[in-house]
Amino acid sequence: MNDLLWWQRALIYQVYPRSFRDANGDGVGDLTGISQKLEYLKWLGADAVWLSPIFRSPMVDHGYDISDYTDIDPAFGTLRDFDELLARAHALGLRVILDLVPNHSSDQHPWFVQARSSRDNPKRDFYLWRDAAPGGGVPNNWISNFGGPAWEWDERTGQYYYHAFHKAQPDLNWRNPDVQAAMLDVVRFWFDRGVDGFRIDVLWHLIKDADFRDNPRNPSFRPGQPPHHAVLQTYSTDRPEVFDIVKKLRSVADEYPDRLLIGEIYLPIDRLVAYYGEHGDGVHLPFNFQLVTEPWDARAIARCIEAYEAALPPGAWPNWVLGNHDQPRVASRTSAAQARVAAMLLLTLRGTLTLYYGEEIGMHDVEVPEALRHDPQSRGMPGIGMERDFYRTPMQWSVEPAAGFSATEPWLPVADDFRLNNVEVERDAPGSMLTLHRRLIELRRREPALVAGKCRIVPADGGVLAYLREHGARRLLVALNLTSKPAVLRAGYLVAHGRVVLGTDRARDGAAVERDVELAADEGLVIELD
Ligand code: GLC
Repeated sequence: MNDLLWWQRALIYQVYPRSFRDANGDGVGDLTGISQKLEYLKWLGADAVWLSPIFRSPMVDHGYDISDYTDIDPAFGTLRDFDELLARAHALGLRVILDLVPNHSSDQHPWFVQARSSRDNPKRDFYLWRDAAPGGGVPNNWISNFGGPAWEWDERTGQYYYHAFHKAQPDLNWRNPDVQAAMLDVVRFWFDRGVDGFRIDVLWHLIKDADFRDNPRNPSFRPGQPPHHAVLQTYSTDRPEVFDIVKKLRSVADEYPDRLLIGEIYLPIDRLVAYYGEHGDGVHLPFNFQLVTEPWDARAIARCIEAYEAALPPGAWPNWVLGNHDQPRVASRTSAAQARVAAMLLLTLRGTLTLYYGEEIGMHDVEVPEALRHDPQSRGMPGIGMERDFYRTPMQWSVEPAAGFSATEPWLPVADDFRLNNVEVERDAPGSMLTLHRRLIELRRREPALVAGKCRIVPADGGVLAYLREHGARRLLVALNLTSKPAVLRAGYLVAHGRVVLGTDRARDGAAVERDVELAADEGLVIELD
């Protein structure tokens, strides 16, 4: 364990700053609010905190549209507040990871304001401009991830610009060395300030086909899916030249000791692992989203674990994610009872783990009434079921009004049942979701087998997912019932004698296990084997 780097052992806690804690009483979370809660994160057992974007932004996509990469948005505070947060985190032994959004800026960024002022402006080539197709209309068939064509007509200069997301998020031209230099300076600016790493937004999007060829039609597209799934993003994403950029980002990180780069990448496993680089010169961790994107099914997840472990290039370190600000919460994808099993799954897998805020208290999606919704993605494609506001509601701290998140009406409504699920109520409740998280995190801390040990899938029937975690002579069997019916893991060939070290139901702790492992509905056990 001592050979591992800090981030290899780490549990990373994702904070969505608007929704974590509002200290200045304007209904929106802020940096001072986050600072006030760092001790909580330490107490929980997190090692690092990743903040979704806190930079100056018109907030069309809540900070993923940046108008100044080296300043803090006034809604969140000031650079001084940030320095205080960083110092406080470091004093507590917590690392701080920021969100780098290099693929696109805001249309209010001075670069874009200049670029669109005339065709011969020196910043013109910072973005992707194309003439209309012969006979008029968009230059190709690329579709925005937020719905509609990915091209916006610019009246004044008579060309289209490309935006993979909202039209207020024009894509930067990463083939331009000046764009590269400017963004690498942004990375240095924050590393010089002491930041420990970056999560890099939509890393696989950075380079587009030089000829802007049409994307092929997706033969398995079905109505009801997001409109951009109608084509395969063959020419607009995951281009071979992106690796030159990834390497440059990595070499800047390597100018500093102990820094971490995580890539946000939604690709099939064989493509995903390419972002580790051929010689460890890619990102340290390409986010592995399989627990989010695959069906909640024991066989499917067993296959994911095996395929992922097998696909990792030599020296690559695994990582797992159960939720984030773009995906329905696990308690809503499964059930409140199954979310406990999911917590045990996440916290017993090999590698670096990322936990989305509120999952530790069992937060679920909140059906935000239409009039109160903010997210441009859901407005761009209504009825598709991608209402991201639902999974970004305020953190539930206490039984106070607005769940102790704010002294005023929060920007998004708080879950109705916040009086049951909140940090204050759960922290001392032996059977709570929060206590389960703390027990699992604490177990992980003292069991190298869980962080770093080999992971082998154990054949199981029906809805049981089982795997063995081994480190030296230590053998831990994790048995998870992914269904709401009792189940049995017939593992006599493995388990002569065992003992439950941690159960989702505490009553099972310490129980002897001989041969078959009996699991109640929605139950998970970590069993030490003789
Ligand atoms: C990433 C972010 C998402 C954002 C998009 C555009 O996928 O996680 O929230 O909307 O990029 O920046």
